[in-house]
Amino acid sequence: MNDRPRASLSRSLRLGLFIAAVIGLVTGLFAWHQIESERAINLDDVARRAHVLAQQLSVRATHALALPDAQARLALRPRLEGYQRLLGYAVFRADGRLLAAGKAVSAFTDKLDDPARQALQSGKEVTQLLRASGMHVHVLMKPLPGATPATGALAVVHDVTFLDDRAVARLAQFGFWILIITLLAVALVVGSTWLAYERPLHKLADWMRRLRTENVAEAPPGLPSGRLRSESDRLAASFRAARSTGQVLSEAAMHAEQVWTPERLRTHGLAALGEARQLIVVSNREPYMHQWHDGKPHVIVPAGGLVTALDPVLQACGGVWIAHGAGDADRATADAAGRLTVPPDDARYTLKRVWLTRQEEQGYYYGFSNEGLWPLCHLAHERPVFRVGDWEHYRNANRRFADAVLGEVGSGPAVVLVQDYQLALVPRMLKESRPDLRVGLFWHIPWPNPEAFRICPQGAEILDGMLGADLVGFHLQQYCNNFLDTVDRVLESRLDWDHFAVEFRGNRALVQPFPISVQPWSERHVHEGKDLARQITELREQHQLGDAFVAVGVDRIDYTKGLPERFRAVARLLEKYPQYRGRFTHVALGAPSRTHIPRYREHLDRLEALAEEINWQFRTDDWKPIHFLVAHHDAKTVHAFLRMAPMGIVSSLHDGMNLVAKEYVAAQTGGDGVLILSEFAGAARELADALIVNPYDIEQFAEALRAGIEMDDAERRARMQRLSRQVEEHNVYRWAANFLTELAATRTPGAETAGNNKTATA
Ligand code: G6P
Repeated sequence: MNDRPRASLSRSLRLGLFIAAVIGLVTGLFAWHQIESERAINLDDVARRAHVLAQQLSVRATHALALPDAQARLALRPRLEGYQRLLGYAVFRADGRLLAAGKAVSAFTDKLDDPARQALQSGKEVTQLLRASGMHVHVLMKPLPGATPATGALAVVHDVTFLDDRAVARLAQFGFWILIITLLAVALVVGSTWLAYERPLHKLADWMRRLRTENVAEAPPGLPSGRLRSESDRLAASFRAARSTGQVLSEAAMHAEQVWTPERLRTHGLAALGEARQLIVVSNREPYMHQWHDGKPHVIVPAGGLVTALDPVLQACGGVWIAHGAGDADRATADAAGRLTVPPDDARYTLKRVWLTRQEEQGYYYGFSNEGLWPLCHLAHERPVFRVGDWEHYRNANRRFADAVLGEVGSGPAVVLVQDYQLALVPRMLKESRPDLRVGLFWHIPWPNPEAFRICPQGAEILDGMLGADLVGFHLQQYCNNFLDTVDRVLESRLDWDHFAVEFRGNRALVQPFPISVQPWSERHVHEGKDLARQITELREQHQLGDAFVAVGVDRIDYTKGLPERFRAVARLLEKYPQYRGRFTHVALGAPSRTHIPRYREHLDRLEALAEEINWQFRTDDWKPIHFLVAHHDAKTVHAFLRMAPMGIVSSLHDGMNLVAKEYVAAQTGGDGVLILSEFAGAARELADALIVNPYDIEQFAEALRAGIEMDDAERRARMQRLSRQVEEHNVYRWAANFLTELAATRTPGAETAGNNKTATA
């Protein structure tokens, strides 16, 4: 029993004792009164008896008084002795002198003088209770007849000690019962107050404490229905309402604190850049590409995670983005130095295009980057091809990009963010000319294990180039581990495993994971509300989707994306569960990619054939299972499909992150939708609430599709809400802030690492 019940029990006990005292007092008074009444009645009996006895003896005593003393005593003696409680008699002369007394009485006749005198003087009977010879005696003194003053007095003396004994016995009797009654009363009072009052109040107090500290849903316990019950119900309801409002507000405040915005990144970015103030991003792929269409230049935003992630960062921070001008209308839309401001309709930063010849592009981009490094880093069972000529072009092109950066930087300080595997040599090239530049390299694709990497004949040069950076970022810790292992095997360098840093050729490169992400759709120029509904209706009509359950996928057409596996999983689903025929449709938005590489062309051809074959097998007059829409889809169309589809599918065989998974989640503003996600995409580490599949396991993949279609509403919503929160709180602005913070905290060559100087904000 804890202290509180003990305290309340002692309160009941005190109340019980008080009531016991009252009961004891009242019943004691009653007992006393009773005993006294009985004693009075008994005394009355004694007095009456004494009176009768006095009456009987008074004639003889009167006669005796007329005799001289000796004769009188003789005449009286036989009559003066008592029996049992009657102790005996005594006779006094008119002058108060004792004439004769019984034996028992003679021991204390002096005590009878006084009543004798009173009776003789008053001529009336006198009754007295006396203590004599250790007894309580009752004395009736009767004046004997004659003239006044009387001729004498006759004392009748009774031993009434028995009345004391009787009173004591009665007292014991009463005491016993009073004790029983009192104990019963105490037990009754303590028990009933505890049960009826203390215990419910105690439970109520406990419930109120839990209401205050926990989320208590049940009604207050043990309260009888009535006002207290209804008032406490209302109190609880208003308390819960107040608390949930408070919770919502504080969660919203916490959430706001967690979410990075472009403004917050801009402020943070400026602080992180410090005196450098110049932010340069350099990548192969440009964020805005111009292409001729009907004699006019049209802008397109190339598909791919790099552009999706970096464009909002540059829009927030400003700066210069240097990239290959790959569009056929790119020269016509840039100035003589290859510069233009972008986005085209809302200038936020500068795009500087680097021009490459066809041969350079072929060797550097299609060749070394995408036939060599790309399959090298992705475990998709595609054999890498390394040609010496491609390597030459790769090195030269990297030099062109590095020179473009150096030209842009001038002589001032700058922070340069080098992007991806196409530009692995750029960090070293920059540092060789300008050791003071702060250079970060972000690798957007996986990093293989050392055994796989050793295939690359130019592996050491690639690592050397990368290790010119102050900070090398990957999506996952696993890629960082692989990278350090690779460096360890390939180069003679100093590895600092504690800080995840490599010292090589006078530069210290920190190696850290930064899982990349996306911006909210609300920041992009996509439709919402009625416009979006209209667009969705149009798309459904245009593609004859009817009211089928749509599962959408958005991919560059690349053999790493697991598209054949996905198509086969769809076919298996329909084969195994024919009830979905006519009801389930997969819309695959495929952006053609790297089509000058035969492997990619073949892949596209095979995919189209596979989709056709599956459609032929299952199609009906007004339905087909796979809509393989090969085109460059703009953001509005992609967004509308993501919003329309209750299911999103990402089936990569290997993927650094895969931002489509996050784009799908970010589009589900209604908090609904199922994401099927390959375990081999980096995103699976963060998006654990997706249905994770092994895309090679067609049976499991088909089952996951079925589980996603059938998932009950509550579970689907709960999963999507957690996913949305994750994506919202870990958006691309947070990614950029983390990267810039870490880069700003790195030291110049030879200095200590600033791995411990992370800011708490990012
Ligand atoms: C991946 C790479 C990026 C690349 C993108 C699109 O995301 O990591 O570097 O830009 O694919 O590929 P592409 O070859 O068209 O630039």
